[in-house]
Amino acid sequence: MPRAVTCIKVAPMRTIILGCGYVGSALGAELVRHGHEVIGVTRSTGSEQAIIALGIQPRVADCSTSDGARMACEGGADMVVFSVSSRGGDYRRTYVEGMRQVLSALESQPPRYFFFTGSTAVYAQTDGGWVAEDAPAEPPHENGKRLLETENLLRAAAARRFTARVLRLSGVYGPGRHAVLDKLRGGAETLPGDGNRWINQIHRDDAVQAILFLMRSGNEDRAFRIFNVTDDAPVLQRDYVAWLCRHLGRPPPRFQPDAPLGRGGREGTAANRRISNHRLRAQGWAPRHPSYREGLPPLPAAPFGNGRAVPI
Ligand SMILES: NC(=O)c1ccc[n+]([C@@H]2O[C@H](COP(=O)([O-])OP(=O)(O)OC[C@H]3O[C@@H](n4cnc5c(N)ncnc54)[C@H](OP(=O)(O)O)[C@@H]3O)[C@@H](O)[C@H]2O)c1
Repeated sequence: MPRAVTCIKVAPMRTIILGCGYVGSALGAELVRHGHEVIGVTRSTGSEQAIIALGIQPRVADCSTSDGARMACEGGADMVVFSVSSRGGDYRRTYVEGMRQVLSALESQPPRYFFFTGSTAVYAQTDGGWVAEDAPAEPPHENGKRLLETENLLRAAAARRFTARVLRLSGVYGPGRHAVLDKLRGGAETLPGDGNRWINQIHRDDAVQAILFLMRSGNEDRAFRIFNVTDDAPVLQRDYVAWLCRHLGRPPPRFQPDAPLGRGGREGTAANRRISNHRLRAQGWAPRHPSYREGLPPLPAAPFGNGRAVPI
């Protein structure tokens, strides 16, 4: 069970969360709970009521345009969190153009702190070894390249003018988001992949706590810093699936090595490495869900996704 949330020992701040989605709205809710003023930006209308219910002030603007970014950043903030997602779509527009426009909009009103929830997709290692932040980030594919370009835009703009942190998140899961579990519960008989790839994951609430932790610690340090944000336990795909199937009381699916993997298609899937969280752990952060075993809902009887009880 997750423990109680740690108190944020910083003065109340105004925060703009660009991309108030799955991670962003959970972060916003925590900040509000600790007395901060939070503005949550989405690209489209529709989620305002949910955002307001969390105590976050909604703002609708497209950060990837000049006018939209200006609107999104209006009034400035002590802290800006760039947490937009292309949901598998146009990475150049969403990340690169979004970051460029936002940094331009903030030029005359820089925040004190800027956080970018990037991705471990920038690592291309395929040998199954451990990967820390100082390992080469040389993504061969388009999406990883664009994420790296986005990091570098932030690095150049921050240049000791403000505190900037990149959090390279591994696969985010949590309430309502368990893709493989969903498939297995839905009766999938096959899964893409050969089962021999390492899966790296982070519970959404631990990702949120990592941002809060970095807010609290070392925030006067103006050096540009990158942190992997992932749990303690990379797991081989076949072991993860076997564990889930055992708990669901169902036979394991067949792996299909040639089937496209994930929404990024095959280009993002050749990567096979264990992401290390040592740097962030060495600073004092610890995941409350060290592995999927603690992070997944109780199996098999928990209500899941659409709220229906799972038939045993
Ligand atoms: N989820 C993962 O497994 C994962 C893994 C690694 C890294 N990350 C990173 O974590 C961050 C958050 O991911 P998430 O899962 O919370 O994403 P999400 O649930 O898809 O939320 C993304 C949010 O960004 C908004 N958005 C997208 N484009 C925008 C734009 N041009 N202008 C303004 N808002 C925009 C969306 O608004 P609308 O809803 O209106 O479109 C939505 O509120 C992302 O930066 C992602 O790259 C996620």
